[in-house]
Amino acid sequence: MRTLIRGAICVLPDSTKQVDVLLEDGRILGVGVPAGAKDDEVVDATGMHLLPGVIDDQVHFREPGLTHKEDLRTGSRACAKGGVTTFLEMPNTKPTTTTVERLHEKLALAAGKCVVNFGFYVGATPDNVEELRKAKRTPGIKIFIGSSTGSLLVDGQEALERIFAETTLPICAHCEDEATVRANSERLGGGQEYADHSKIRDHAAAVIATKRAMDLAHRHKHRFHVLHVSTAEEAELVADHRGLITAEACPHHLLFDRSDYARLGSFVQMNPSVKDEADREALWQALREKRIQVVATDHAPHTLEEKQQPYPQSPSGLPAVENSLALMLNAVHQGRVSLEDVVHWMCEAPARVWDIVGKGRIEEGYDADLVLVDLAKTAVVRNEEQVAKCGWSPWDGVELTGWPVRTWVLGQTVFADGKIDDSVRGQEVAFEHERGGYWA
Ligand code: DOR
Repeated sequence: MRTLIRGAICVLPDSTKQVDVLLEDGRILGVGVPAGAKDDEVVDATGMHLLPGVIDDQVHFREPGLTHKEDLRTGSRACAKGGVTTFLEMPNTKPTTTTVERLHEKLALAAGKCVVNFGFYVGATPDNVEELRKAKRTPGIKIFIGSSTGSLLVDGQEALERIFAETTLPICAHCEDEATVRANSERLGGGQEYADHSKIRDHAAAVIATKRAMDLAHRHKHRFHVLHVSTAEEAELVADHRGLITAEACPHHLLFDRSDYARLGSFVQMNPSVKDEADREALWQALREKRIQVVATDHAPHTLEEKQQPYPQSPSGLPAVENSLALMLNAVHQGRVSLEDVVHWMCEAPARVWDIVGKGRIEEGYDADLVLVDLAKTAVVRNEEQVAKCGWSPWDGVELTGWPVRTWVLGQTVFADGKIDDSVRGQEVAFEHERGGYWA
C-alpha cells in the first residue's frame, strides 16, 4: 500500500515546510517526492500540519488486573484519537511487571489488542536485580522511589545502590521522598480535604527524592530519566545532566496548580501533586530551554466513583493521552511555545531518551507513524466524548485550538473523521540501548 500525503506543512528534523510525504509498507518512503502513478491513496492535507506521531513515555493502562479503570485496547484507542502512535507503559499493574516472564506476558497481551505501538517498563523491587539484568525487550527500569498507586516501592539505600550499580538498562523514577510524605501526612492527620494532597506530597518530598536519585545516577554513571518534574527547584537541578540525565514534564503540572483544587477537587489529585503557579511557569521555562526534554502524560485513569471518594481515600491520577497533543497545540496557539518545540518534547526527545528504533521523525526510512493536525480547529473537551474507559477528563468544558485530525500507525490510518479503526494493530517497539540515549 502506497499513500501520498499531499500539501501538508511538515515538521521535519531541521525545517518546517510544505512538502509531500510518501508512505509505503509502513515506512516513510520519501519526503518531497513527486506523485507517482503507483500511489494507491492520495490524502489532500493542504492547510494542515504533519507531525511525527507522539511517543508518550509514561502511561498506566491498568492491564492486567485493574481493567475496570482502563485496558490496553481502550488506552491504545485513546492514544490513536490523541495523535499518540507509541506508548510506553508502567509496571504498577496487577500483578506488577517485575519479572521477565510478566514483561513478555504483557507484550503478548498487547500484540493482540493495541491499535498503536507499545513498549513496557520493567519495575524494580528491593530484590529483583537479577530480573532487571535479564530484561531485554523494554525501554528500561522503573523505580518508585516513593510509593504511588500500587505496591511498588524501593526506598532503601542499599537496594537503590544495587539497582544503579548492577543493571545496565536506562532507569526512570517516580521521585517523592517516602519519609517526608509520611511525616507530612501524620502532621495533617492523614489529610482532610483534596488540597491537603499538595501539603502532604509537598515541594520538599519531590526535591529530596530527585536529588537522591540524581546522586545515584551520577555516582554510578547510569542513565536516568526523572519522571513528572513538578517543582521549580527540580527544574533547576536537572540542568546538571552530565550527559546522563533527562527529565519530563506532564501537561497537568504545566496547566494546573493548587488553586485548582477548589474547582476540580480530586480530578487534580495526582502524584507528584500539583504545586504553585511559580512552579508551573518554571516548568514551561525549563522546557523552552531544554533543561526538561520530554512532555508525557502519566495517563493514570481511575473511575469516577473511585475519584469521588473523600480525601485521602480518593486515588491519585488522571487520564490525558487523548488530549495531551491538543493541550500542547493550544499552547502553540496561545503563543507560549512553538510547534517545533512541541514536536521535540513529544516525538523526537522520547525516541532519543529511550533509544527507540525508527520513530520520532519525519524522515525517509522512519516508520510511518504520523499525525495530521489542524492548528485552526477549535473544539471543547467533553467527558461524554472521551474514549478512555473512565469517561472523564479534568479538562472537561475547556476549549482548545489545535487538534489531531488523522493518525497513521505504521502507514495505516487508525484515526480519521473522528473515528478509530479498530482493525489496525500496532507493534512492539524496538529499543537499541547501545545508542546511548538523548545526549549521545
Ligand atoms: O498520580 C499518579 N497515579 N501518579 C503515579 O505515579 C501513579 C499513577 C497511577 O498509577 O495511578
